[in-house]
Amino acid sequence: MESLSTGIEGLDVLMDGGYPKGKGILVTGPPGAGKTILGLHFLHRSCLEGRKCILILTRELTEDILNQSRSLKLDLKPFLENGQLSIRNVFEDKMNKIKFVSKFGKGLCSVDTDIIEYLSAISSEVDAVVIDNIGVMAINYDIKEFADEFSSISIILLKHECTSLFIMDEDSYNLTHRLAGYMAFGLIRLMSQENFSSGKTKQYLYIEKMRSKAVPVKYSIFDITPEGMRIITGMK
Ligand SMILES: Nc1ncnc2c1ncn2[C@@H]1O[C@H](COP(=O)(O)OP(=O)(O)OP(=O)(O)O)[C@@H](O)[C@H]1O
Ligand SMILES: [Mg+2]
Repeated sequence: MESLSTGIEGLDVLMDGGYPKGKGILVTGPPGAGKTILGLHFLHRSCLEGRKCILILTRELTEDILNQSRSLKLDLKPFLENGQLSIRNVFEDKMNKIKFVSKFGKGLCSVDTDIIEYLSAISSEVDAVVIDNIGVMAINYDIKEFADEFSSISIILLKHECTSLFIMDEDSYNLTHRLAGYMAFGLIRLMSQENFSSGKTKQYLYIEKMRSKAVPVKYSIFDITPEGMRIITGMK
């Protein structure tokens, strides 16, 4: 099966070339675990390789993510400017709509911007998609609605043969009974373990599943450097 580079050398080795092409991978983990950084590596590498990419943000400001990418030497701005990358921000769009509708006396409930709405207009040229963070759907919907919404998103992306990363915070993942993990083609979990006596934290990347690929080493230790994520152990 063809793969797309993750943008992280050690992770490409672990996954025999990278993410399975055209498939959807769920990335979950606690706050600050490195989920967004994993997404930035993938987008940056895909853009460097000339692919067309989309980043959908649901919780963070576009400016903050662009600043983070620049500080990690994974600058996405040039690709945004040359049109290779497009960024849609559900959160900012919502804020703008609220500002607008509140003038007419309506509130937050009357406003809903949808990830599906963005994706239904997706061009067939798009190769790589990152959605950071689909956890908002766990709050806005009940479990059945969440499953429907996640399937719809996955199907749209599969039909367009987009290699996709679905980033989901761990609390939302657990709140939705880890359903997205069953539904996705692959599942990567980031976790950390603190050693209170030494004051050090070990960070782990766990490839829980990757259909179609034999993953000989599932647990790896990684760290986050000024150049982003680096796999320390777990190389084949
Ligand atoms: N530019 C940087 N240089 C060095 N370390 C960084 C940099 N940006 C982030 N980090 C470190 O990497 C950690 C992970 O960042 P990241 O934004 O990927 O977390 P996350 O899993 O997406 O968290 P959240 O769930 O809050 O969105 C941060 O907590 C921070 O300690
Ligand atoms: Mg994040």
